[in-house]
Amino acid sequence: MKAIVKTAVAVIIAVCFAVSGGLCIAGGQPAPGKTLILYYSKTGNTRAACEALQKETGADIREIKDLNSRQGFGAATGMLKIFMGMQTDIEPASVDFAPYDRLIISTPIWAAQFGLAMRTFIERNSFAGKDVIIFITSDSFIEEKYQQKHKDLVAASKGRVAGYFQVQAADLVDGKKVPRTKEKIVEDALKFLPEIKACTGAKK
Ligand SMILES: Cc1cc2nc3c(=O)[nH]c(=O)nc-3n(C[C@H](O)[C@H](O)[C@H](O)COP(=O)(O)O)c2cc1C
Repeated sequence: MKAIVKTAVAVIIAVCFAVSGGLCIAGGQPAPGKTLILYYSKTGNTRAACEALQKETGADIREIKDLNSRQGFGAATGMLKIFMGMQTDIEPASVDFAPYDRLIISTPIWAAQFGLAMRTFIERNSFAGKDVIIFITSDSFIEEKYQQKHKDLVAASKGRVAGYFQVQAADLVDGKKVPRTKEKIVEDALKFLPEIKACTGAKK
């Protein structure tokens, strides 16, 4: 009987996170070990969320930078490169993943895809043997069919997708996009902490 109640509670919690925009996919208990948060951010939303998650989980954190300016005209060329499946120049080109058991890969969404610098990083690196938790920020809710494409991209680089979380960075008010504050984005990101910790095995 106890086992049935436990299972029911676990299912309800999982469904709640799925509906609210986050889901830890990995089954069973995550092995203890180190987590690296790897993020790209153009306007600071993803950075703010990742820095807050870093403080709460004690994970290491690295930023992937786009070496080409993405301001003004650069944003348009970035979008063009996304559409054409092209890459950009990034720094660092790779990271030593040896000390880590899992990665949190975090990026804004551009044209329903990962931001150009992060997509470039993923395409050029292998995540073999690593659990990968995807954490995105975007102005609108990213539907399942696009989530699947993001998971497929990570899987193509041999990462084992262990979770997918999304935080919305804008609201639609009277048909107009209104950006959310960084404080609200951080607040929403931290709501996923219990589930992210369940994915990462973080004790903190
Ligand atoms: C070039 C570009 C394309 C974008 N495309 C999308 C999109 O397709 N869907 C969406 O929901 N948000 C889109 N956004 C909004 C960003 O994903 C969102 O504002 C994100 O939180 C920005 O994160 P950052 O501040 O870390 O760069 C786009 C933003 C930029 C700059």
